[in-house]
Amino acid sequence: MVKAAAEGFEAGPETPSWKQIIPGPMLFMGAPGSGKGTQAKAIMAAWGIPQISTGDLLRDHRARGTALGAQATQLMDSGRLVPDNLVNQMVAERVAQPDTARGYILDGYPRTLAQAEWLDQRLRDQQPDAHRLAAAGPSSGLPLIAVSIQVSYTQLLRRITGRRNCPTCQRIYNVYLQPPKFDTVCDVEGTPLVQRADDVEAVFHERMRTYAALTAPVVEHYRASSRFVEVDGEQPADEVMAGIVAAVTRLRSET
Ligand code: AP5
Repeated sequence: MVKAAAEGFEAGPETPSWKQIIPGPMLFMGAPGSGKGTQAKAIMAAWGIPQISTGDLLRDHRARGTALGAQATQLMDSGRLVPDNLVNQMVAERVAQPDTARGYILDGYPRTLAQAEWLDQRLRDQQPDAHRLAAAGPSSGLPLIAVSIQVSYTQLLRRITGRRNCPTCQRIYNVYLQPPKFDTVCDVEGTPLVQRADDVEAVFHERMRTYAALTAPVVEHYRASSRFVEVDGEQPADEVMAGIVAAVTRLRSET
């Protein structure tokens, strides 16, 4: 899978292979069902950097019964966003963990212009000066790469209503597009698959309205940057991944 990316990338004599680069901070944007989680998990495995999904973090809070989880539940189930200050705080705590030293993938964050401005400021504040450089992780100071995954409305609806997850290993399936081998159980765990409460058609339409109003402007915010990548998310998942790896390798070799 990743080999294909390296082959598709026109490397010059000085260009490192994808394995040699430090991936640094990345964010994956796209409408509900565009494949952010699928791609983030594949890139996480390839480069050994964590996927930081704000949706997953919020669902974890819910499962543990925290105050944040209780506050988020109704908003999530109705397709609305959780308040910026709560999500920013959650992200600040997660990106401070040591496993982010070589980079990380923000999956589904930022989703509002206020979140994007908060993140941009945080990354600016982190630019290492001479004193901090020695103590900083290898990705510290690398600029953010923003990846936007494009998928049509009809295809998104099919992906969302067909999605099922393994509650044990979190593997993602789709009853129409990527079905499990046996009926409705996980190929790896044998656990019965579950459907998210917000993956029904009525909530999907509300999530899309929220996306258009609040998150589409975030895509435009990052489009203006020289480190913006747009990929066709309707290709097979391994081809989408190959495109992302090739683009990130090219951009990091220019950094
Ligand atoms: P979140 O969990 O982030 O939901 P989302 O953004 O709507 O994205 P999804 O997880 O639904 O889709 P995805 O793009 O990851 O697609 P996937 O890879 O699973 O957020 C949920 C809620 O939490 C929000 O509504 C909000 O309330 C709250 N929240 C989260 N972040 C927040 C924030 N920053 N601020 C405020 N509130 C926040 O793929 C989908 C399906 O398609 C799967 O079945 C998969 O198998 C299939 N598929 C994927 N790729 C392909 C392919 N290439 N070909 C065929 N099928 C594919």
